[in-house]
Amino acid sequence: MDARGGTGGSLAGVDIIEEINRLREERNAVILAHYYQTPEIQDIADFVGDSLDLSRKAADTDADVIAFCGVRFMAETAKILSPEKTVILPDMNAGCSLEDSCPPDKFREFREANPDHIALTYINCSAAVKALSDIIVTSSSAEIILNQIPEDQKIIFAPDKHLGAYMARKTGREMLLWPGVCIVHEAFSETELLKLKAQHPGAPVLAHPECPAAILDHADHIGSTSSILKAAKETESDTVIVATEPHIMHQMEKALPDVTFIGAPGADGNCNCNICPYMALNTMEKLYTALRDLEPQIEVEESIRIDAKKSLDRMLEMAGNTLGKGDVGAPEAAGV
Ligand code: 13P
Ligand code: SF4
Repeated sequence: MDARGGTGGSLAGVDIIEEINRLREERNAVILAHYYQTPEIQDIADFVGDSLDLSRKAADTDADVIAFCGVRFMAETAKILSPEKTVILPDMNAGCSLEDSCPPDKFREFREANPDHIALTYINCSAAVKALSDIIVTSSSAEIILNQIPEDQKIIFAPDKHLGAYMARKTGREMLLWPGVCIVHEAFSETELLKLKAQHPGAPVLAHPECPAAILDHADHIGSTSSILKAAKETESDTVIVATEPHIMHQMEKALPDVTFIGAPGADGNCNCNICPYMALNTMEKLYTALRDLEPQIEVEESIRIDAKKSLDRMLEMAGNTLGKGDVGAPEAAGV
């Protein structure tokens, strides 16, 4: 296993890369991967992107099979948008702490207790919670969508309280926040980040808005994974500090081999605690067997799917043409 949890991938007597490529052709499959997947998975994917980009690709693809290398809510989103396709996820246990923080029955009660609020819900949630929501947002579409909602409309923002608080600060909108967190971004340490900054004066800090405010306060650029990647590619610095899941640095290192990218540290001063344990469940071996067996498959109950699609469609309409721009954190600061 490499430092970021990757495995080269081997099953006795099987060339996994060759087999994945053969099965992709045979099945007319598209492999979609999130930036938090291992380098091998990112490199074999047809498309690597942030949550919004991946939703759009899933909605538009001509493939018969979508092999989704990400977490379950992302693969579910693909199935909701493209129900006629077979959607496979290499490991069905690839969940998300934000999804777990927001059970549908509790979310329903919260909505019923606040009937004059609309629900803007982060895509990191179950299909059932999407079905109970009005508009889905991603980190790259939240701001553009919020700015289209009338000033006097009251809003619930769920389930990520840090993204919600950041959006509230950025747009000046007051929102009722669901108290969920991403365990990965929650683990960054402000003290250790300040130490790292002192060791690398001038290195810009690029941060995901799932980070707590104490981390975002020290960031030079805040945005979705694709926005962070874009900011990294535009840097003029020889060292960059990255406060999000460290597998995204694979794309940065490929694009800018002469720049040093350093993962923001957790409380032990080491960035490895910020590997997403759910994303890490997907491996090349499991991608191969999923393509071979067409299992595990994502299924979404039809009445939930129809309601969830309404809130996702609103996002896709309201987000406009932001594919690949990930512009929630449009460069606000010098250095990137
Ligand atoms: P984006 O890729 O949309 O920035 O979201 C990150 C995320 O939550 C993945 O866990
Ligand atoms: Fe969920 Fe956080 Fe992992 Fe993203 S990084 S899948 S938000 S736990």
